[in-house]
Order: sequence, then C-alpha cells, then structure tokens
Amino acid sequence: MLIMQKATEVTGEALIDLYRFPPSAADGRPVVRGNMVVSIDGAATADGRSAGLASADDTEIFHLQRGLCDAILVGANTAVTEGYRVPSTPERYTTLRAENGQREVPLLMLTSRSLDIPTDYPPLGAPGVVIATCRSAPADARARLAAVGATIIDCGDQTVDPVLVVDELARRGLHRVLCEGGPRFLTALAAAGRLDELALTVSPHLVGGDAPRIAHGPRIDGDPGLPMVRRHELGDAADFRYELWERRTG
Ligand SMILES: NC(=O)c1ccc[n+]([C@@H]2O[C@H](COP(=O)([O-])OP(=O)(O)OC[C@H]3O[C@@H](n4cnc5c(N)ncnc54)[C@H](OP(=O)(O)O)[C@@H]3O)[C@@H](O)[C@H]2O)c1
Repeated sequence: MLIMQKATEVTGEALIDLYRFPPSAADGRPVVRGNMVVSIDGAATADGRSAGLASADDTEIFHLQRGLCDAILVGANTAVTEGYRVPSTPERYTTLRAENGQREVPLLMLTSRSLDIPTDYPPLGAPGVVIATCRSAPADARARLAAVGATIIDCGDQTVDPVLVVDELARRGLHRVLCEGGPRFLTALAAAGRLDELALTVSPHLVGGDAPRIAHGPRIDGDPGLPMVRRHELGDAADFRYELWERRTG
C-alpha cells in the first residue's frame, strides 16, 4: 500500500498501525527493521552524527518504533557516538506495550567485534543491555567490560554473525527488532539476508562532504541490489519524508 500523506494529518492510532511490526518474518524468524535518516544527497551524518538531520516528527516516529519493538539492535560505535542511554518508554507507549504483551522497555543489544567500548559508557552494566560479540574478541577488553557488569554473549567466531544475532533474539522471544544502524552494521545485516524492512526519513538538506551513506560496507547480493517495495510514504510541512520499505518477496 502506498500512502502519500502529511504526517500531521495522520492520527496517532493510524501512525501506530502504519509502523506496527508484523509478528514475524515469513519463515517464522524475527522481523528486523532498520531505522535510518538520510539527507537528500545521501549523507547518513552531518558533522559526524545523524541527530542534526532529524526533525521533531522524525523523533516522534523514532520513539513510536521503539515503543513497538521488542529489541533495539545497534552497532556499538553508533551507540557510543550518538550517546545512547538505557532505553526508556515514554508514558504514551506504556499501555500499548502492555497490550502487545511486551516488556516495559525493549532490550538494547550492542554489537562489537573489538569490544572497544569505553568502560564508563553508562548503559554497560544495566539490566536489559547486552553486548553481542565474537569468540575472537580480545580477552582483555572482554574482561574489562565484564568487570563493570556488562553482559556479553558470543554470536560467531571471527565476526559478529548477524544470522546468529537474530537467532539469539528469537531464542529470547524477541521477534520485533529495530536496528538503528549504523551504516556498517546495517549493511552486514542486509548482506546476511536479515534485513526485512527499512524505515527511512529523508531530511531536506544537502550536506556534501564525505559523510557515509546509510548502507556502507559489503556489497549486498542482487542485481542491482536487494529489491525493496515501499509500504508507505508520509510528508510534513517542513518537507521531511517518512518512508517504510520492505523486502520484495517473490
Ligand atoms: N543516518 C542514520 O540514520 C545513522 C544511524 C546510525 C548511525 N549513524 C552514524 O553513523 C556513524 C557510524 O557509522 P558506522 O558505520 O561506523 O556505525 P556502525 O554500524 O555502528 O559501526 C559498526 C559497529 O558495529 C560493530 N559490528 C559488529 N559486528 C559487525 C559486523 N559483522 N559488521 C560490521 N560491524 C559490526 C562494530 O564493532 P567493531 O568495530 O568492534 O567490530 C561497530 O561498533 C556515526 O557517525 C553515526 O552517527 C547514522
């Protein structure tokens, strides 16, 4: 379904329905949705962060999707760069989560092969925060993080395997997964066949410079790439566009 509508004309209930996750992917595994913002010239960052590209409506859609998901999956680099904190649920979404049979807050899973994460990064020891790494991660870094209470799990030998990460989330009963990037981890997910949907905000700015694209890393299979179809597109008075794409099946 393609809907081109002003975001401000969409009621809260309709917005929830537009962004609700399907219960699972066609083969029964979790649905993984990327959530990214991009400038009209394709930049994923302005001055090294994505925050400057966002708008108030984008922030609302970001919180709505967090309200609808079971787990937030994000590259450790992005979590540290963007100053992620332990997730909390705005009051307006607590009833919705209860109705959906979800925990009060989504799990936060950080991914890192190097475990090069500052030990004073605040969310580290919090319950509901997990680091997915690989067996080859440096033992000293692993010990430093464990010493400050971090929960660390291995999802692979030489690299963090997105397939094993998604399997681990399924094992925990977490089937609605929101991947908030960054560009390299999102691409690893897509290249491993584990990106099902992409919520994309197009920010009405030209950034230039050498900012990364929202997908940056290994070539994703397909000619010319992974085929996607647009499920909806909303706009707002400030010329932001809010799109939801899903993987074309068949
Ligand atoms: N436009 C947007 O919507 C958006 C969203 C998020 C972030 N950003 C921006 O993107 C920039 C960061 O870009 P980035 O590409 O470095 O972010 P990134 O995807 O967060 O970086 C990759 C992270 O994932 C980890 N990782 C674990 N397994 C991996 C695997 N198999 N493949 C790739 N990475 C794996 C890396 O850890 P190791 O290095 O330890 O392996 C690293 O921490 C920041 O400036 C951030 O602000 C933009």
